[in-house]
Amino acid sequence: MLPSAGYALALGLCAFGAVSAQSYTELYRPQFHFTPAKNWMNDPNGLIYHNDVYHLFYQYNPGGTTWGAMSWGHATSKDLIHWEHQPVALLARGFPDAITEMFFSGTAVADVDNTSGFGTNGSTPLVAMYTSYYPQGQELPSGKTVAANQQAQSIAYSLDDGMTWTTYDAGNPVIAEPPAEYADQILEFRDPSVFWHQESGKWVSIVSLAKLHKLLFYTSTDLKTWKFVSEFGPANAVGGVWECPSIFPLPLDGDDQNLKWVAQIGLNPGGPPGVTGSGTQYFVGSFDGTSFIADPESLEQTNWLDYGPDFYAALSFSGLPTDERIDITWMSNWQYAAAIPTDPWRSSMTVPRKLSLATVNGIATVLQQPIVQEQTSTPWRWSSSPAGVTKLNVTGKALDATLSFSKSEATDFGLIVRASADMSQQTRIGYDFTTQELFVNRTSSGEAGFDGSFSSVYYAPLASNDGNITFRALVDWSSVEVFGGDGEVTLTAQIFPSDDSVDAYLFSTDGSTSGVELRAHQVPSTWN
Ligand SMILES: *[C@@H]1O[C@H](CO)[C@@H](O)[C@H](O)[C@H]1NC(C)=O
Ligand SMILES: *[C@@H]1O[C@H](CO)[C@@H](O)[C@H](O)[C@H]1NC(C)=O
Ligand SMILES: *[C@@H]1O[C@H](CO)[C@@H](O)[C@H](O)[C@H]1NC(C)=O
Ligand SMILES: *[C@@H]1O[C@H](CO)[C@@H](O)[C@H](O)[C@H]1NC(C)=O
Ligand SMILES: *[C@@H]1O[C@H](CO)[C@@H](O)[C@H](O)[C@H]1NC(C)=O
Repeated sequence: MLPSAGYALALGLCAFGAVSAQSYTELYRPQFHFTPAKNWMNDPNGLIYHNDVYHLFYQYNPGGTTWGAMSWGHATSKDLIHWEHQPVALLARGFPDAITEMFFSGTAVADVDNTSGFGTNGSTPLVAMYTSYYPQGQELPSGKTVAANQQAQSIAYSLDDGMTWTTYDAGNPVIAEPPAEYADQILEFRDPSVFWHQESGKWVSIVSLAKLHKLLFYTSTDLKTWKFVSEFGPANAVGGVWECPSIFPLPLDGDDQNLKWVAQIGLNPGGPPGVTGSGTQYFVGSFDGTSFIADPESLEQTNWLDYGPDFYAALSFSGLPTDERIDITWMSNWQYAAAIPTDPWRSSMTVPRKLSLATVNGIATVLQQPIVQEQTSTPWRWSSSPAGVTKLNVTGKALDATLSFSKSEATDFGLIVRASADMSQQTRIGYDFTTQELFVNRTSSGEAGFDGSFSSVYYAPLASNDGNITFRALVDWSSVEVFGGDGEVTLTAQIFPSDDSVDAYLFSTDGSTSGVELRAHQVPSTWN
């Protein structure tokens, strides 16, 4: 994955590796979302659940708070809620002085049958497949020659359950270039997503031809030798580039006999309507071990995985049971990721989201539910039929709130969070009864001067069943994630409010809203 603008290497700055204890209380520091202690982060990489541990790797610049020196940062968790920082897993080769290889995005699998032959001493090799980026071009230890700025697919393995990694220098890159007909795309060929396909008994890897909006499918029996077998795309939204593709099966409507395949793809720029910059779409279809074919209904309109501005490079964990899917997504946007006012880190991940597939309005739709700490404290509860603006007892910078309500007279209804005492600063999370859309309005949310497109309102279609609407909002120190209905639409947006903007209100515009039920509590920090 690449920023759309050029990059500059940040050289010779800080130390890197194991991270010392941090307060995690700086202005805007997320309290229950993953952030690196310091420096730049973008896409999640190599998500894998192995031996009871969740591993989160991520695009990381060990030398600064903007993109550069791309390496794989690493964190582990036992519960997907509390994360422990680990040393950098794959450090840009030559860092910091003369970088000869960066480690761009990719994925990881457990090679339980030792098909790669990397296993020793009875340990299961974990194998990561990633994009090698060679800024200088050079001859490699494998004898292969790569061009300056070339991208190619390589592998690395771990024999200690993911804690340390060895690059496969004898054979890298294992996919040195795209097929001959796409030879001119050698600089736009990236983000391999690898998985085991049980029915065909093969490894499958999907690589993006970013500028051509194509996914190339490869198969292998040993993770080292790859054969190009099919392609998918362009289809639906194309945008500037397609990046970070992945596909996985999910049962439709809980029916294990009816497995569908979901392809999720990042677009940059070219996000959902009203979003400037990045976004993520998905397709539902079938996969036979060779070709992905999207269902006709899935091609009728673009399916957005999230309708907000801060949701890119969604990736799911490998190593979970077939019917269990959990995504983590980069909670930023290339439009302004390098300019957001956080220090000494940049960017956060979304909370992990459990995925399922259900028929909604006749179309197979991905549902998302957040994985957050179960709250033991008694929630604030509130029920009534308010009109106008009503101050709530609920206060705080990190909240988990669920609202349900029914249409009566109002045109808009919802929750105001992170409001200042005079309400000049506020973020609105609400529902427009007229257009039947869920929205997040960050036009007055706080600091926004770093990007001209930031102060906007974002909308997601959400039909009301029997006039009854439900949504859940996760508010953290610098973000809101909203899950509409059963999670068939979500909206994710960063906000940068003042530290003392902690009030919450209900708003009901042009009349009352009936049957309002609110349940909310503060979310404690997961970093202590
Ligand atoms: C994995 O395969 C390699 C190469 O065949 C072999 O040397 C090694 O013993 C195997 N390891 C395990 C754990 O089976
Ligand atoms: C395998 O185990 C032996 C004995 O514990 C150890 O000496 C050797 O270094 C191990 N090899 C690898 C590649 O980890
Ligand atoms: C609001 O706060 C007051 C004071 O803590 C408390 O007595 C009251 O029960 C709260 N109301 C609700 C609806 O939670
Ligand atoms: C967005 O919210 C602000 C107040 O925070 C309000 O003035 C404005 O009208 C809202 N915009 C839309 C389109 O709802
Ligand atoms: C609306 O739906 C939610 C979730 O299904 C439910 O908890 C709530 O009681 C419903 N409210 C009304 C007024 O039907």
